[in-house]
Amino acid sequence: MNATSSHTLTESQPIIDHLNEILKHEWTGVQQYSQAAFIVEGLMRELYAPKFLEDATESFGHAKLVGEKIAALGGVPTVLRNEVKQSRDVRELVENALAFESKAVEMYSAAIELAEEHADRSLVIFLEDILAQEQEGVDEYSKLLRETPAQQGEVKTATSRAA
Ligand SMILES: [Fe+2]
Repeated sequence: MNATSSHTLTESQPIIDHLNEILKHEWTGVQQYSQAAFIVEGLMRELYAPKFLEDATESFGHAKLVGEKIAALGGVPTVLRNEVKQSRDVRELVENALAFESKAVEMYSAAIELAEEHADRSLVIFLEDILAQEQEGVDEYSKLLRETPAQQGEVKTATSRAA
């Protein structure tokens, strides 16, 4: 459904509320990642400052999409954010980033369930596109934090597996 506005505002309210929680999370991302880029210290600064700025930009991109969607559904996009986790330590920043991306995956997944209950196919697709990007964030930050022991991490070729 929902080609134009087949749902009333009351029907859309639970979705609008949930999207606003997501928007709050994305606004948090804009500030948390920007702050991380500003203050990250140490030898890895040169690598991580641009990465965190890129993530801040991604959060803003998502905030923009979600804010527009809330307005289209007749709601008022929030200007609030959650608490920003701060650190100068790269590992801690990466752990914060993983927690942030994992929460985003949970929130978009729950929103998709809600949109499915409302039989709102286009909203499901809209949210799925963003969810895929959030999952990429989880995958990437998980890899950055992973330290597989050498033997276990050894990449086996087809030949060596057969031997
Ligand atoms: Fe996001």
